[in-house]
Amino acid sequence: MNEELPSSQTALRLLSEVGCSKRVIAHCKAVSALAVKFAEACEEKGLNVDVDLVEVGALLHDIGRSKTHGVDHAVVGVEIAKSLNLPESIVSIIECHIGGGIAAEEAKDLGLPVKDYFPTTLEEKLVSGLR
Ligand SMILES: [Fe+2]
Repeated sequence: MNEELPSSQTALRLLSEVGCSKRVIAHCKAVSALAVKFAEACEEKGLNVDVDLVEVGALLHDIGRSKTHGVDHAVVGVEIAKSLNLPESIVSIIECHIGGGIAAEEAKDLGLPVKDYFPTTLEEKLVSGLR
């Protein structure tokens, strides 16, 4: 898997190319702008945070909404992100952004692949908390 982070411009191009609506793209931009502000605030407090990853991860977090708006859009988004050879850090942000974290038991009830979907890194938490 490619570990190089795409630019925000590339991320926006990818959202269009896979078929995200203008509305979804506008939402992703808004989440990204806010997430960057929070990330920068974290940085100012001395926390170790990858602001670029937050920016691009937030832009791409809803890429699965190009195919479905169901709760499985995170799972579909992971598939799309992997097919686009996006870095694991981005895939992980997409995977765990739904519902601010979903436990394996609940995932089963929702018809999702059974596993925990909890944000663990600060970057994942920032996107998940603002999506
Ligand atoms: Fe979402």
